[in-house]
Amino acid sequence: MMKILKVPFLAAAIVAGVCGLGTVAMAQQTEVKLGYALAENSHYGAGAKAWADYVEKETNGKYKFRMFPSSGLGGEREVVEGLPLGTVEATIVSTGTLSNFVPEVGATDIPFLFRDLQHARSVLDGKIGQDVLGKFDARGMVALAWGEQGFRHITNNKHPITKPEDLAGLKLRTMENPVHITAFKTLGAAPTPMAWPEVIGALQQGTIDGQENPLSVIVSAKLNEVQKYLTLTGHVYSPAMILMSKKFYDGLSDDEKKIFRDGAAKGRDAMRAYVDNVEKTGVETLKTAGMQVNELSAEQKEGFQKALKSAYDQYYEKYGKDLIDSIIAAK
Ligand code: PAF
Repeated sequence: MMKILKVPFLAAAIVAGVCGLGTVAMAQQTEVKLGYALAENSHYGAGAKAWADYVEKETNGKYKFRMFPSSGLGGEREVVEGLPLGTVEATIVSTGTLSNFVPEVGATDIPFLFRDLQHARSVLDGKIGQDVLGKFDARGMVALAWGEQGFRHITNNKHPITKPEDLAGLKLRTMENPVHITAFKTLGAAPTPMAWPEVIGALQQGTIDGQENPLSVIVSAKLNEVQKYLTLTGHVYSPAMILMSKKFYDGLSDDEKKIFRDGAAKGRDAMRAYVDNVEKTGVETLKTAGMQVNELSAEQKEGFQKALKSAYDQYYEKYGKDLIDSIIAAK
């Protein structure tokens, strides 16, 4: 629910009050609760800060973000569910559960779809990506921009992965994401969908053997403390999304809507800058922290792509071969 803080924010109001200039309507500050899954020093924290700084400055402090990092408002599904209800104003989330709300998001979660970060960014910022964002309005949310996590890699406590057969029987935590679950089932793993707040504990207790996430997450969540092996599979690009409650957004003036949108673009850029940096430095950081890291040769990577053929048949059926081929062919 939108919380109005009884705090003066306009210098004029303060001056008027101090100078006793008669009755001046006290301006009010509106709180924007922003929940996200990771720590403040993550790519989500960077995006949230850039967004908040811009909005707070451009609205002269009329809107004040209150950050809830590290799943402070619950798991991603719960936070997303709070947006249409208006119990949460804003979030930055992975696409983990988003295709359960807007099925078209799933097309962006297909393994080995994007060649590199630039390819993903240009598709998501282009018509295909923007059309998907537009579908959130009907679900009581406003999707302002695509954020980014990077390419996902597999970590585990059993052994290095070099071929799909190495996944056999591996209890691998996945997001609650049907596209990813199909892929890992097809590869022969035992995918265990689980909300993020439970993952570190489950890895510590050994109820799961491994998980998969981009370097941005592996480094910022210090997964090296609970995982021995990192295989640079880069099996899927992991987008993120910057979302608001439609209830809240609809109450903004047109100028304010533009400020929130422009601020979200700043948040997206900050996330991408963070990812660019961690893609360069993350592997070294994790090796220094004691992780055993292996890369896949082009041939080994092809082994994973080939093994996903029947999963791709399912994706073609669900999202349309034309759409998937046009994403793959995009420059
Ligand atoms: O693996 C996930 O659930 C997501 O990538 C995470 C870590 C919550 C970030 O959105």
